[in-house]
Amino acid sequence: MSKGRSLKPEARSPSPTARQKFRRRLLEWYRRNGRDLPWRRTTDPYHILVSEVMLQQTQVDRVLPKYQEWLGKYPTFEALAAAPEQDVTETWRPLGYNIRPRRLHAIARESVERYGGSLPSDESTLRSFKGIGEYTAGAVLSFAFGQRAAILDTNVARVLFRVFVGRGNPKAHAMKRVLWDISRTVLPHRHVFDFNQALMDFGATLCVARKPKCLLCPMRADCAAYPHNPDNERA
Ligand code: ADE
Repeated sequence: MSKGRSLKPEARSPSPTARQKFRRRLLEWYRRNGRDLPWRRTTDPYHILVSEVMLQQTQVDRVLPKYQEWLGKYPTFEALAAAPEQDVTETWRPLGYNIRPRRLHAIARESVERYGGSLPSDESTLRSFKGIGEYTAGAVLSFAFGQRAAILDTNVARVLFRVFVGRGNPKAHAMKRVLWDISRTVLPHRHVFDFNQALMDFGATLCVARKPKCLLCPMRADCAAYPHNPDNERA
């Protein structure tokens, strides 16, 4: 997409009815199909941050054992801050991308020095940490602090693009802004934790990049990318 203007207004900002339907269907789908993952049983900001940084570039099944090992070894920001850097990067090593453990280590040190061993709960301070971008800030705010904060990662972007936009270039910079707006608009006022986790699971297991399971999809009657819907171009 070169110009956001070419999108229909409904694609840029789903109507209250469309939001409502999407929320209800997604949460219902999650209740039946959501994965039981250890970082969904906590609101501890440190645990949430560790899981999200690990999950940034690594699949869930590879993260699971490392997440447990990491928290066993460094159970708090204090413990991580006190560990030697080499020890920290060694523990991380099988996950690759070695900038991530160093970032996490630096965040732990700053958390201890400036925030009493926790994380600040406002977006701009969170984003002042190197390694906490727009996505990670949204994840920490919604999962650890229960705030109404949106998220957008690759999986979530694909879901929102397909359901609400359907055409254009999903990877274009301008489209990212549109999708962030949609993520904020569809976010409910309650159940933010489950809703955001559900978005990720939906993208990771059903609305997958190749061969999405449209016939199992509770959104398909209103999905902008489902080719058989009468309103869609390819129908
Ligand atoms: N990928 C990024 N964050 C995730 C989460 N909380 N659960 C599953 N996959 C994820």
